[in-house]
Amino acid sequence: MTVAVALAYLLAAVLFILGLIQLSSPKSARRGNQIAAVGMAIALLATIPLLHFTGAGIAITLIGLLIGIPIGAFGARRVKMTAIPQMVALFNGVGGGAAAVVAVSELLLQGSHPPFAVAFPSVFSIVIGSVSFAGSLVAFAKLQALLTGTPITYPGQQIVNGALALAIVALAVYLIAVASTPLIFVPLLILGLVLGVAFVLPIGGADMPVVISLLNAFTGLAVAASGFVLGNFALIVAGTLVGASGTLLTRLMSDAMGRSLGNVLFGAFGTVTAGPAGVAGAEGKSVRSGTPEDIATLLAYSRKVIVVPGYGLAVAQGQHAVKELADELEKRGVEVEYAIHPVAGRMPGHMNVLLAEANVPYDQLKEMDQINDEFKSADVALVVGANDVVNPAAHNSPGSPIYGMPILNADEAKNIVFMKRSMRPGFAGIDNELLYDPKTVMLFGDAKDSLMKLVAAVKAA
Ligand code: TAP
Repeated sequence: MTVAVALAYLLAAVLFILGLIQLSSPKSARRGNQIAAVGMAIALLATIPLLHFTGAGIAITLIGLLIGIPIGAFGARRVKMTAIPQMVALFNGVGGGAAAVVAVSELLLQGSHPPFAVAFPSVFSIVIGSVSFAGSLVAFAKLQALLTGTPITYPGQQIVNGALALAIVALAVYLIAVASTPLIFVPLLILGLVLGVAFVLPIGGADMPVVISLLNAFTGLAVAASGFVLGNFALIVAGTLVGASGTLLTRLMSDAMGRSLGNVLFGAFGTVTAGPAGVAGAEGKSVRSGTPEDIATLLAYSRKVIVVPGYGLAVAQGQHAVKELADELEKRGVEVEYAIHPVAGRMPGHMNVLLAEANVPYDQLKEMDQINDEFKSADVALVVGANDVVNPAAHNSPGSPIYGMPILNADEAKNIVFMKRSMRPGFAGIDNELLYDPKTVMLFGDAKDSLMKLVAAVKAA
């Protein structure tokens, strides 16, 4: 590696880190992505002089680029915001698969008895990369509803998975310490793929974002290992950063859901137990529902309204309508803020990205810790397509699956308005007592339709 290439890799590494730092706030996240992309472009360009291409190598690389670039660019531009998790799963999976394939090719190049410095990272990369590839494809299939989102379980499943993992470790040790032929990577690769599938099948569809983040961390580690195999500094740095940030994100997500990572991975959680629309297992309790006109009057004569957006707002694509409603209310002197729960929606930052699309000012988006004390002084908590993130069971019901999850204190507002289509529960599949609270009024319907009716009614109020 020449000094110029080493310096280019160093610059790329600095840009990756600066990009990551900027990703920590929605205000600077777009710039963070651009900075990291520039870093990646520099790393790619600096790698070209290191390649010793033959004619066939150039042709294969060009064919790969010609197929991959349009798929990546077109896919990323066309994907709907609600489908980002499965797109990330696919992209992440192919990253893991690519790391495994690179390691396989290096092992084959080395022939029999590869040195430890090659054998160890190669084996690591093959195992982790193949688990990540197969697991990400199952995660994609669950999120895309190609496979059921319900956990797929059978008795003794964790023992079978444990046995698979043990077999992989034994084969890996044999390959590194004893094997004379690198072809033993074939069963290792197959077992890794089987473990990837077996590991993700028992996890509920709605837990997939956490799993994808974990698999993303795995891919990072596999890529870093490939960097050791190839002696490539840029791969080591990029892979380690992905591994570390994926691990942190996985932790943050499980913490925000009030669950341990072990419970997410092995708890077979997320089996929705909802009854038909409007039932939700809460027979006998009365629910107060209102018309758009009633609720518009309540909102228009409030001093302070806190909007709690959730997954349903994203499904309904009601972000522009909620901004229009907030604008109308502000014209009438109502103070409007948005309370953002860290796991509202189905992916990290979902609500921030959704509301940013509608140009909601960032200073109106308040994180849970910033806004929770303000609900007491709010006249209305307007809960739009959210459910679990305001469910008081997280505070009051020790047996509940969400017990311990930090929630938004919407129950402390003077009035609570829920905008949703039915009495069905949210992702956790559990009833929400707040829907039956005397302070609560329901506005049933698709969130976007209801918001548009509210805008019209507030204008007329
Ligand atoms: P949920 O609790 O899932 O509730 C969403 C509500 O939106 C549902 O009750 C649904 O009720 C309603 N809804 C769906 N489509 C709608 C539409 N078109 N119009 C109006 N309402 C609609 O959502 P949340 O409060 O945002 O909580 C997120 C949940 O996902 C948490 O349990 C969290 O742990 C979990 N989770 C989040 C993440 C991340 S990283 N964000 C990752 C994994 C899991 P109806 O069917 O009655 O309309």
